[in-house]
Amino acid sequence: MPETEHPHTQKIGPPPKHVAIIMDGNGRWAQQRGLPRAMGHRAGTENIRRIIETFHEHGVDCLTLFAFSTENWDRPREEVLGLMRLLGRVIKRETQELHRRGVRIRHLGRMDGLSKRLQDQIKTALDLTKDNTEMTVNVCLDYGGRTEIVDAVRRITAEGIPPEEITEQTISRHLYTADLPDPDLIIRTAGEMRLSNFLLWQGAYAEYYSTPVLWPDFDEATIEGALLDYSQRQRRFGGLSGEKQAPGQARFRLRRR
Ligand code: FPP
Repeated sequence: MPETEHPHTQKIGPPPKHVAIIMDGNGRWAQQRGLPRAMGHRAGTENIRRIIETFHEHGVDCLTLFAFSTENWDRPREEVLGLMRLLGRVIKRETQELHRRGVRIRHLGRMDGLSKRLQDQIKTALDLTKDNTEMTVNVCLDYGGRTEIVDAVRRITAEGIPPEEITEQTISRHLYTADLPDPDLIIRTAGEMRLSNFLLWQGAYAEYYSTPVLWPDFDEATIEGALLDYSQRQRRFGGLSGEKQAPGQARFRLRRR
């Protein structure tokens, strides 16, 4: 991917392959305008297609969106139901266009707690787009990082893998993200500085970027700001400066992980 011009004439370097986003601030966006929270969530869906396209144009192959966490069930029933309906509608509305653009849609999280209707909407999107190779968009719905690790451990145990054969790779291969690269960059909107149970395992070496921009206002300029900031980071993966290698690719390994 060639370097791209930033509007402020600075160069953006090689892009992260996988960007993950904690979309936050829909409620505050609505509150600032004297609107109900539901309007903030609705506004937060308007920009989805443009955001996916912008990341794609910048060479990002994989985008993960944290839409509904295992903790979000604790919100008022009315808000949860509204969010579920909205997310189903957005998946339905966007699937054809994303398919046309070669995007593979994936779901990360537990399916069985979702309504039958939403499960069907998700399955339709997954089936239609499963062979697309242009880009992958992961929608995290009923997703929690700890739950994901619990599910992985259950599957490893169910497969009867002996404890001494369990390595970091075994665990990675049993996560919802089994065949995906770890995120290089995790972005959080609305100024918060928390991980909120998001990609706990996979985010071990991710660069973290927090922007005060509220999710409904997240746009091309914010994306370019995040990518520019990322390109100026020195990723060392616990090694020394100048050794740019992902964990597991070290030339010498003294201890098996
Ligand atoms: C954060 O705002 C947003 C959410 C919890 C949920 C859902 C996200 C969307 C509707 C965006 C669209 C996403 C997709 C994948 C279609 P908040 O309610 O936590 O805001 P607050 O912290 O300001 O109250």
